[in-house]
Amino acid sequence: MSLRIELEQIVSAWAARNFPDLPPEPWVRPCTDERHGHFQTHLAMVAAKATKQNPRELAERLCKECFPPEGWEKPAVAGAGFVNYRVGPEAVGHALDALRRDPDLGIPKVTKPETIVIDFSSPNIAKAMHVGHIRSTLLGDSLARLLTRTLLGDSLARLLTRLGHRVTRVNHLGDWGTQFGKLLLAYRAAGRPPIESDRAIDQLEEFYKQGHQHAESDPAKMEQARAELAALQVGDPERLQDWRLFCEKSAEHFRRIYERLDVRFDSVRGESAYHEDLPGVVQDLLDKDIAETSQGAVVVRNPEIAEEPYLIRKSDGAFLYATTDLAAIRYRAAELKADRIIYVTDARQQLHFRWLFDTARRSGCQAILEHVWFGTILGPDRKPLKSRDGTPLKLIDLLHEARERARAILQTKRPDLSPVDLETKADLLGIASLKYADQLPNRNLDYVFTWEKLLAFDGNTAPYILNAYVRTRSILRKAGLQKRPDAPVKISQLEEERLARILLRFGDAVELAAADRKPHHLCGYLYELAGQYHRFFEACPVLQLPALRDSRLTLVGLTGEILREGLSLLGIPTLEEM
Ligand code: ARG
Repeated sequence: MSLRIELEQIVSAWAARNFPDLPPEPWVRPCTDERHGHFQTHLAMVAAKATKQNPRELAERLCKECFPPEGWEKPAVAGAGFVNYRVGPEAVGHALDALRRDPDLGIPKVTKPETIVIDFSSPNIAKAMHVGHIRSTLLGDSLARLLTRTLLGDSLARLLTRLGHRVTRVNHLGDWGTQFGKLLLAYRAAGRPPIESDRAIDQLEEFYKQGHQHAESDPAKMEQARAELAALQVGDPERLQDWRLFCEKSAEHFRRIYERLDVRFDSVRGESAYHEDLPGVVQDLLDKDIAETSQGAVVVRNPEIAEEPYLIRKSDGAFLYATTDLAAIRYRAAELKADRIIYVTDARQQLHFRWLFDTARRSGCQAILEHVWFGTILGPDRKPLKSRDGTPLKLIDLLHEARERARAILQTKRPDLSPVDLETKADLLGIASLKYADQLPNRNLDYVFTWEKLLAFDGNTAPYILNAYVRTRSILRKAGLQKRPDAPVKISQLEEERLARILLRFGDAVELAAADRKPHHLCGYLYELAGQYHRFFEACPVLQLPALRDSRLTLVGLTGEILREGLSLLGIPTLEEM
């Protein structure tokens, strides 16, 4: 149990006894400035406000009646009614004894595990389609966004699983949109040539672009594209065969990317899987009076969300992205037994999900629905990141460049590496840096992407944190150990105590990142831990003092384990040597 939770239990018990009407919120937080204390609570101020009492007096009472655990100093009132707590070195040592025996490294298990579906990545076959309109963005763009989506979704799945939830990772491939009409048009006009595996996506993208241009400039061609789509949707064998080929070839490409990123799915179930459910979904909403017919189309209205209604069937009978999502919710609730469904997409889909969730709830969906959205990756010009020639950046190129740059850096830092080692390390470091940099900013913000920042060995980067990890490993090796010793920790110096207190906060950081669905909290924690580890290392000789050796090696080993576990929750592997 973390020190914070230990104190939290005591403080919230006091709150429940004395102020049973207050909401059960976390009352204890770490202090930002260690000079004031290690933890603080704002409980007295909230309680005073709710009951019209004097906050400082209530804070005094809290201090008197609510003793911190053994080994903590007497609490003190500060400011308008905060109470500050300070934990003594001995209590830190005891807490650390519990931590070193805990295989979960202080990460608490949830009391009510849920079955959670995380819908993430979900790229489109050949073209991106968006909220109620078809964006003319091409696949490259959707691949660049896929990166963020994948990393965020992957980390969320890891975090929630670690806390004890049952997580199903779903890839909701966009494999049934209107893009196929245009794609089929151009592909068939070219005589249905073979699609080559290694440049399948480029080829498909090219066909889509042609089809799009033709259809947009010539109404007759547009009509043809519609007819192609209609033929596909009623199951014309030749069109189905072509469509399957597009899907297969795209899937191969996605699989290669997922493999390199080490991202996996429990279920790849594209939009096409729901095709046959769509008429039933619309009928059900009509029967329940949630949807209505309007000029031949079927729409859902809710002025609280927007004036414009939510379109679920067009007047020509075609179904939409939204209809498919409604069908998918039913499937996930009924078949996957989801208690909660989390969707990870970019910010532009917020309105879609508000409508979707509202409509699903009104029609009786019991699962909790959440949209976890993120901002855009910007280039140095603060416009969406593009490749050098101005076309949308492809993820595969991004991965490639990450490796190239990591290799160049390694070549100067480690000229002694064998060619094989160099390749393995460059690959790992490139991916690690990319993953870390992408998860570091608060997901709700846009962020500017720069290679220099991402691969720097100092600053809040993957190489910096990996470097700290590698140093923990090399000390253990120097001591002749494979794993850390399991000795009681004696706190004798300030830098040592600080390190220990940060180690004890790991569970809090994981919980916070999972609860907010924001892995960047974990990045912040790991950076702090790595920094403190370097300071500890400067101030506290580990191998020289026989009396403290095992205690310090235990601290070093625990630091390594927590760094490794924290990185792995971000999907980042470690290495034993830089
Ligand atoms: N394919 C969509 C896109 O690229 C994302 C799908 C997200 N998931 C969902 N169930 N709508 O924008």
